[in-house]
Amino acid sequence: MGKAGLLVLAVGVAAAWLLGRGFDARLWQLPFFFGRGRLLSPAELARYTGAEGGPGLYLAVLGQVFDVHRGHKHYGPGGAYSALAGKDASRAFVTGDFTATGLVDDLSGLSSSQMLALQDWLSFYSKNYGLVGKLVGRFYDETGTPTEALKQTQAAIEEELKLKGQNDEKKQFPPCNSEWSSTRGSRFWCSKQSGGVSRDWIGVPRKLFKPGSTGHHCVCVRTTGPPSGQLESSVHHDRGDLDNPNVQEYSGCHPLAEFCVVEN
Ligand code: HEM
Repeated sequence: MGKAGLLVLAVGVAAAWLLGRGFDARLWQLPFFFGRGRLLSPAELARYTGAEGGPGLYLAVLGQVFDVHRGHKHYGPGGAYSALAGKDASRAFVTGDFTATGLVDDLSGLSSSQMLALQDWLSFYSKNYGLVGKLVGRFYDETGTPTEALKQTQAAIEEELKLKGQNDEKKQFPPCNSEWSSTRGSRFWCSKQSGGVSRDWIGVPRKLFKPGSTGHHCVCVRTTGPPSGQLESSVHHDRGDLDNPNVQEYSGCHPLAEFCVVEN
């Protein structure tokens, strides 16, 4: 393999690594890895509305400019989404407000989940349309460097992804009810409401270990059906999440007891 081949392989491995993470860093960094891309001013971008005799059809999301001429029927003159062309109307993508005040790149007051929805739009355009470069303004400065506004948006997206991950984990492994006494030790038990997670199963107490850390806490583990993330219709042992590698039985507690006493 030549030097070029090695470079492509290295970039491929790096991209695969980045993609494995919740925050899609590829969307923000890799497009500009090979060069800075073109820098456009808002006035320049405004010429790209797909009008006849015009230079083309572009739009921007979070300051990244895409060539959407393939979607001319949507974005071109007379198209349902023509208002998005020639500008960065990031806000409208998540509010659905296509009036002049809504078609702006100001994201103030948006929730973190709306910010996350914007990342989904960015991902949509990255997959379906060609990247042209960056729009100089709210999200990139005149050297193409991310502005404070973009960094704050990225931080909000990362925070939202973290919260979502924690909620998903809590639904899969709701915390146990627990009680401690100096004489009897710790008692753990599960119920349909334990951990504040309402559900139609009770589960059995298990230690949940976080990968990479030595501590554990008590969670309720589903004992029937397919493991989480597997379809009901798939072939499985009908043991719920009991075989999850991050959970472990409490010694001295029957594996299927809903109630455990762990002595001091
Ligand atoms: C926040 C509100 C909305 C936004 C920002 C939005 C945005 C978009 C965009 C940008 C496209 C073009 C995607 C492409 O490039 O292929 C699209 C397509 C489409 N949208 Fe929406 N949309 C919204 C709400 C809706 C609603 C409420 C409906 C239906 C009641 C709808 C129906 C459609 C349909 C049918 C297409 C596909 C058209 C086709 O492929 O011919 N959209 N939307």
